[in-house]
Amino acid sequence: MGERMTVMKSEGHKLPDLDDYAKLAEQFVPGRQAIFVIVEASLLELLPAGPARILVVGAGGGEELLRLGRNNAEWSFVGVDTNETMVDLARRRLADTPVGARSELHAKTIDRLDDKDFDAATCILTAHFVPDDGSKLAFLKDIHARMKPGAPLAIVDGVGVAGEERTELLRRIWIRHAIRNGVAEEHAVSNGENFKKVAVVSEEREEELLTNAGFERLTPMFRGLAIKGWLAFA
Ligand SMILES: C[S@@+](CC[C@H](N)C(=O)[O-])C[C@H]1O[C@@H](n2cnc3c(N)ncnc32)[C@H](O)[C@@H]1O
Repeated sequence: MGERMTVMKSEGHKLPDLDDYAKLAEQFVPGRQAIFVIVEASLLELLPAGPARILVVGAGGGEELLRLGRNNAEWSFVGVDTNETMVDLARRRLADTPVGARSELHAKTIDRLDDKDFDAATCILTAHFVPDDGSKLAFLKDIHARMKPGAPLAIVDGVGVAGEERTELLRRIWIRHAIRNGVAEEHAVSNGENFKKVAVVSEEREEELLTNAGFERLTPMFRGLAIKGWLAFA
């Protein structure tokens, strides 16, 4: 655990305020806490009792590790995230917590992670940032390659096709949902526009990519507006 909590410290970044980040995520993401509880319950159901090593892809911010780890003392975590600022935020959030002592954080891409044979993996609100130009498939394959055969992945992503009627309706509701949760209208609208900028794909395409990456038995376990979650097995 030598490098735990100390890897690639970024200097000179202006870090977002911890509470601000957590609060905004809570205001924007429908069922944010439900996602963590469902993922935790899924892993509790699927993993044998006892120690488990969990790969967290897109671990930035640290809330996911805290939520999954705080009541599961035998789970340890290896988190990767490409954004050093978000990794620093996670480190600060986990500092001096029992979960932090069981967590290793890397500011790197998943393909550069040497570790493997994970008992489970999570990828929450992260894969939708990876372009569907071959990179998203490679990203999912890189997760698969680091998991034990049959191990569960919990993946939660925005889904939909920008411009399609159903997706646009959900996007407008997303904006109203954020405003109802206290976000300023201007901020909610600009966030809603982000949906068009990130690499969100349709549900069918996400399932195709997961299958092509080697995952089996895809099992939807969450839906909140255009955010959908699956369990999938390596
Ligand atoms: C919306 S945040 C979600 C963080 C965390 N999973 C949670 O739910 O609290 C998405 C995270 O994915 C990270 N990210 C984006 N692209 C990534 C990639 N290719 N590999 C790993 N992390 C990535 C971002 O830096 C960011 O920290």
